[in-house]
Amino acid sequence: MTERLGIAGLSRRFGGLVAVDAVDMEIVAGTVHGLIGPNGAGKTTLLNLVSGHLPASAGRIRLDGADITRWPAERRAAGGVCRTFQNLKLFRDMSALENVMIGLHGQTRCEIWQALLRTPAQRAEERAIVERARGALDAVGLANSLDLAAGTLPYGLQRLIEIARACVARPKLLLLDEPAAGLNGPERRRLVGLIRTLRADGMTIMLVEHHMDVVMATCDRITVLNYGKKLADGTPAEIRQHPEVIRAYLGAGVRPGSTPPGAPRAVVHAPA
Ligand SMILES: Nc1ncnc2c1ncn2[C@@H]1O[C@H](COP(=O)(O)OP(=O)(O)O)[C@@H](O)[C@H]1O
Ligand SMILES: [Mg+2]
Repeated sequence: MTERLGIAGLSRRFGGLVAVDAVDMEIVAGTVHGLIGPNGAGKTTLLNLVSGHLPASAGRIRLDGADITRWPAERRAAGGVCRTFQNLKLFRDMSALENVMIGLHGQTRCEIWQALLRTPAQRAEERAIVERARGALDAVGLANSLDLAAGTLPYGLQRLIEIARACVARPKLLLLDEPAAGLNGPERRRLVGLIRTLRADGMTIMLVEHHMDVVMATCDRITVLNYGKKLADGTPAEIRQHPEVIRAYLGAGVRPGSTPPGAPRAVVHAPA
């Protein structure tokens, strides 16, 4: 059991609000680790701390044993920490393929055009990048949509493009922030298949998600946050039965197809 990500006493304050409060967490390499909890629990803030998009107020973050707490986001990305965002960040007018190529290049369209003006060796590299981006889109089932403008595709497919972009550089740790938000049943099942495939390929994934069908079908372990604090940590079976988690988030007597009363947002669907 090799630790990929280690979080110790991690906190983040916004003024008087402690959004992430002294959280300890370990993610084992090669596993899918769920992060769940009510809206405002601090899940996105915790992902931002891990990706380096926000600095920590206190605590430590380790990646493969190295202390990355003070590393800027770009260095963490280069070190293999890639992510998607709760709100889509695709370039709507660029093709699906170009959007995924960005995951291998830099951050701007300009760099792609510069790349096209380079030497033969660099052009060969460019072709390799195109092939890898194609492969990543193929892996999410979008081989037929390479040249379509991302913004013209259905929302569910846009989310898959975003995941392909985050995965194309073969990250050590993939951070997914609510990838199933806005997806319908078949799209969620496709997402589950994709997460399982990435795990089978050896990727380590931290998954923030409200859709319990996706969480329960993919996660090896789950950490529950509530008001910034870790409420529970365990296997899906343990978390499902955890009295405090049921009270704070999942709700008791949940009926399939309903959002349970008293649960700010756990979404429970009828079994597929
Ligand atoms: N940039 C910010 N400035 C001030 N408060 C923030 C900021 N980001 C998040 N928060 C607050 O931190 C808490 C946790 O937010 P967030 O991490 O987005 O929760 P979750 O993703 O679990 O819904 C919320 O109360 C939110 O309003
Ligand atoms: Mg969030």
